[in-house]
Amino acid sequence: MTIRAVVRGVGHYLPERVVPNAEFEALVDTTDEWIRSRSGIERRHFAAEGQTTSDLGFHAAEAALKDAGLAADDIDAIVLATSTADLTFPSAATMIQDRLGMTRGFAFDVQAVCAGFVFALTNANALIVSGQARRVLVIGAETFSRLMDWTDRATCVLFGDGAGALVLEAQEGDGTSGDRGILASDLNSDGRFKDLLYVDGGSSTGTTGHLRMEGREVFRHAVEKLAATAHAALKKAGLGPEDVDWIVPHQANIRIIEATAKRMHVPMERVVVTVQDHGNTSAASIPLALSVGKARGQIKPGDLIVTEAIGGGLAWGAVLLRW
Ligand code: UT7
Repeated sequence: MTIRAVVRGVGHYLPERVVPNAEFEALVDTTDEWIRSRSGIERRHFAAEGQTTSDLGFHAAEAALKDAGLAADDIDAIVLATSTADLTFPSAATMIQDRLGMTRGFAFDVQAVCAGFVFALTNANALIVSGQARRVLVIGAETFSRLMDWTDRATCVLFGDGAGALVLEAQEGDGTSGDRGILASDLNSDGRFKDLLYVDGGSSTGTTGHLRMEGREVFRHAVEKLAATAHAALKKAGLGPEDVDWIVPHQANIRIIEATAKRMHVPMERVVVTVQDHGNTSAASIPLALSVGKARGQIKPGDLIVTEAIGGGLAWGAVLLRW
């Protein structure tokens, strides 16, 4: 008997305000055409004034619990992937725990920027497999609109706000790659590349800071590293790209998504794409895409899914799971 962390519920939340590309034409020297053709983004959601990351995460968590048919007190732990916690501390995960009325268990944040959700899923899987938790809420929630330099056209047009959540539950499997649940993961980081994508604020400055990115360089690393990490996760489970039903990638740029699928020899018909509607929501993009992919009728029970992401650090990785 093998314990597997199986997806029991999924949900997401997007703030009400939708911002089309055209709105940026009045702000910086850009065009709808440039943003669409270079990134695939058509619109994104921005949180309302005063609306925080924990607020978005709370709504996504509520939706995932509803989908799972569970209450907050059925959950043993919350693992929240975010780089935009409401405050430096306490963790936004504990704020969500409070909003949910969950008075037992534990909650913490995981910070691996755009790769945060694959790191959070891997941590949640370890908690379940080691017997420390039976049910874990894994959330990705971000308000990257708060980190934008609105004079930098190369970054401010790319990001959006949102949240997605999964409920993972311990279930018995037979130890084969036919099991439902998380089958393998592959995590990486390389701090030599920390200057390619960072926020220039924190405890060293006493400010929140703004996002800075060498877009072309990050693009180059993404195309090279994402297919490799997805292959590595598949290999650990004794599977290959031909077994994959869906790639659910981090949604930063349609050209990166297409290049990764091509390198993996997986046709775009088997890739869940939401970047046109959400922009880059960092650690929220994968759970958002999982939730939207299920709602669209793309993702079905038993499907083999590989998620992959890269971001600041650089940090990158992939998680292989059977839905
Ligand atoms: O989620 C974390 C990981 N992040 C990513 O994966 C992002 C990776 N990078 C990218 O997605 C792409 O590199 C970008 C979308 C950021 C940029 O696309 P690109 O094709 O690499 O463009 P570029 O940076 O090479 O810029 C091309 C030109 C430049 O002008 P010159 O130097 O050729 O005259 C830029 O100044 O486009 C210019 N440009 C813009 N023009 C209109 C940059 N931003 C804009 C803009 N509107 N918003």
